[in-house]
Amino acid sequence: MIVLGIETSCDETAAAVVDDDRTIWSNVVYSQLDEHIAFGGVVPEIAARAHLEVLDGVVRGAMSDAGVDLSDIDGIAATGGPGLIGGVIVGTMTAKAMAAAANKPYVAVNHLEGHALTARLTDDLNFPYLLLLVSGGHCQLLSVEGPGAYEQLGSTVDDAIGEAFDKSAKMIGLGFPGGPAIEAAAQSGDARRFHFPRPMKGRPGCDFSFSGLKTSVRQAILKTGPEALSERTAQDIAASFQAAVAETVADRCANAIIAFDEKYPEGKTLVAAGGVAANSVLRERLFALCALTGFRFVAPPPALCTDNAAMIAWAGIERLRLGLADDMDFAPRPRWPLEELRVEPA
Ligand code: KG4
Ligand code: ZN
Repeated sequence: MIVLGIETSCDETAAAVVDDDRTIWSNVVYSQLDEHIAFGGVVPEIAARAHLEVLDGVVRGAMSDAGVDLSDIDGIAATGGPGLIGGVIVGTMTAKAMAAAANKPYVAVNHLEGHALTARLTDDLNFPYLLLLVSGGHCQLLSVEGPGAYEQLGSTVDDAIGEAFDKSAKMIGLGFPGGPAIEAAAQSGDARRFHFPRPMKGRPGCDFSFSGLKTSVRQAILKTGPEALSERTAQDIAASFQAAVAETVADRCANAIIAFDEKYPEGKTLVAAGGVAANSVLRERLFALCALTGFRFVAPPPALCTDNAAMIAWAGIERLRLGLADDMDFAPRPRWPLEELRVEPA
């Protein structure tokens, strides 16, 4: 089975062709970064127009890279939400039109499910597994029993983790997007110089909190005097922030591992997914935690952690295998929590 995937939920316009034998035949990602950088964040209206302008070329590129045409494709999957609605509409309408014209099944993929199932595309991995989903808009721990079968163990009580990276980077003056900028700056920084809090650490449960950490970053900057923020200090704040995040996340994951292991003793796997899972300090920390607890740690390569369409095509494959195509009246949605996905096998 070969599926074309389309992703347009934020500021990446992406298309990919993926095989159900786990081969990624093509994976084209057009980043709109240059169009949003002057605004210090993604502007929804600009994003929607940019998707509209480039999506047909991106799809054509993915098909020609893969050496396929529409008749070779067994299904078309597009992100149907959650995300910036203008972009989601552009991707959904394109996928529906192609599916209708070629008489192929159409699948509306939940973007979070795309992240959640990526590890099964990149690694030989069975259900169930414990999932840490860390992206720009989300921070959750879930047990994954299958496509559509998610149970939340914990989530953030305030900011999403990627948001904490992006906002802190902005305060430090490292620009946008903040995650990669903080990771790069932190490489030359001293993680012990600033003693930022480890929110929620030591508390029972699997919830996260990042707003206090963000406030501590602001206070450190104010104390140093923002004008006087030298490159050295910026690097030290970045490194100290990143260390605090990694420690906090590892602490929450340690609790989740215990809870998950009790319910699914055969699982023994922690998967990290979403843009923030590209962070190498976080990955190392989670790898060490898993080594201690006898869990396997799986994280897709960084380029498949951040937004891409290979993950959407793959989620489409997983759904089509279960006979879960969608109707043409599927309505794109800005909000679509994973727990609301219900699989009704055909
Ligand atoms: O999954 P993603 O590409 O888009 C969403 O679905 O939100 O995640 C984007 C988020 C951004 O907040 C970005 O700063 C963060 O992932 N990110 C990182 C890294 N690369 C991307 N955060 C920390 N370290 C990174 N290397
Ligand atoms: Zn994402």
